[in-house]
Amino acid sequence: MLFGCEGICLSLGGRQILSDIALEAKPGEILGLVGPNGAGKTSLFEVLCGRYTADQGQVTLEDHDITTLAFHRRARMGVARTYQSPVVPASLTVGETFRAARKSHKPYRSRHDAEWAARLTHLRVPWDTPATVLGAFDRRKLMLACLMLRGPKVLLMDEPASGLINAEIDELDLIIRRLVDEYGIGVVLIEHRLELLAAVADHCIVLDLGEVIASGTPRDVFDNPRVHEAYFEGVDA
Ligand SMILES: Nc1ncnc2c1ncn2[C@@H]1O[C@H](COP(=O)(O)OP(=O)(O)OP(=O)(O)O)[C@@H](O)[C@H]1O
Ligand SMILES: [Mg+2]
Repeated sequence: MLFGCEGICLSLGGRQILSDIALEAKPGEILGLVGPNGAGKTSLFEVLCGRYTADQGQVTLEDHDITTLAFHRRARMGVARTYQSPVVPASLTVGETFRAARKSHKPYRSRHDAEWAARLTHLRVPWDTPATVLGAFDRRKLMLACLMLRGPKVLLMDEPASGLINAEIDELDLIIRRLVDEYGIGVVLIEHRLELLAAVADHCIVLDLGEVIASGTPRDVFDNPRVHEAYFEGVDA
């Protein structure tokens, strides 16, 4: 198995947030993780990347049990993660951000590598632009490009389409698809809009109130009555 978890249970502040969650990310595939607001999607990412410690369950990377490894050690082993809000360094330009990312990798990555990562993520801005001046999509591209310098095996993306317009979402899909098809990365992609995932995911898991309520192809989960109930409960027809 490339990357996955099983039996994950998590409680925060005395509340059960995740119950018995299992998932598997395969190389060269996009696994969509969907669910209404508050379903536990981001909390699951926190467990997978090592910022939260689960009460129970295992996280596995290439047959290694990484459940108790710290965030930075998982990152070094190839677990990369993007965040719901595209936060960029407050005082660095695009070029300086790349430089910091290059130097954080041993052996150091070259400027040529950074140029490759910028092309891969369609980041077409002058490198002397302050990172905070970038719009939402360019911020996401910059952070993704920096992660690509690390040669990740699995990429956990938390709502990468949030704040983007439709044309940008189409471009994002192309970028992600390329990472998966050409570099064999396994992507887990959080999105709370089912219809956006249908366009890009190979397989989907639906979370509601901290539990997996459906799993299958995007079409399977679209047609699943439990999923409709979770999304549209209380909404008058
Ligand atoms: N640090 C925390 N302490 C206590 N409760 C938390 C904490 N973080 C998240 N929660 C709760 O856990 C539940 C799941 O939150 P989470 O952010 O994982 O959901 P989500 O599916 O990512 O939602 P969204 O689509 O809004 O991003 C929510 O009820 C939230 O209030
Ligand atoms: Mg979230």
